[in-house]
Amino acid sequence: GKEEEDALSDLPPLKRLHEEAARCTRCPLHCHATQTVFGEGPADSQIMFVGEQPGDVEDLAGRPFIGPAGKVFDEAAAAAGIDRRQIYVTNAVKHFKYERRGKRRIHMRPDAGEVAHCRWWVAKEIEIIRPRIVVALGATAYLSLTGESRPIAEVRGMPIPMQEDRMLLVTTHPAAILRMPDEDLKVRSLEAFRSDMAGVRRLF
Ligand code: URA
Repeated sequence: GKEEEDALSDLPPLKRLHEEAARCTRCPLHCHATQTVFGEGPADSQIMFVGEQPGDVEDLAGRPFIGPAGKVFDEAAAAAGIDRRQIYVTNAVKHFKYERRGKRRIHMRPDAGEVAHCRWWVAKEIEIIRPRIVVALGATAYLSLTGESRPIAEVRGMPIPMQEDRMLLVTTHPAAILRMPDEDLKVRSLEAFRSDMAGVRRLF
């Protein structure tokens, strides 16, 4: 109602957006998820990382990248000299999509329609934060940010110009590394991810 609107309008823009997203019903994913997992980090961050969607741990806690994939991300960021407290971390899709198998909730990839609906929030986050660099972690983030479906291998490693002199960089998703069945491949992907993160660090 009106009072709620007034209370929201007193908030700084990013906080306000966060509050609004908490009530998002733009797509059906909100029905089964615990809560919206919005982006996190300073409103004046120079760099924004975009993942796919919250995982099981993030869905329960309400914070992005704090589970197993978050650990891989944090370690690679720290090794590259990127301080998580100074960056903005968010997801292309803000509700956890899963399939129930017994007690477990198994991650399911968001489809193009879900990504398109949630893009509204990602665009607003970019509009408010105005980062110099945006990093797409994986193909879903790349789709959200560009509207294009491409294999990551085709677009990783080269900066892509965005609006307002912003640069888009693309790398693997840390959760994809964790899901790799082959141990050698996993080690190599992790090395490539770390090297991409070091490349990101050199840009700002
Ligand atoms: N994977 C993501 O893409 N985002 C998270 O927040 C956690 C895991």
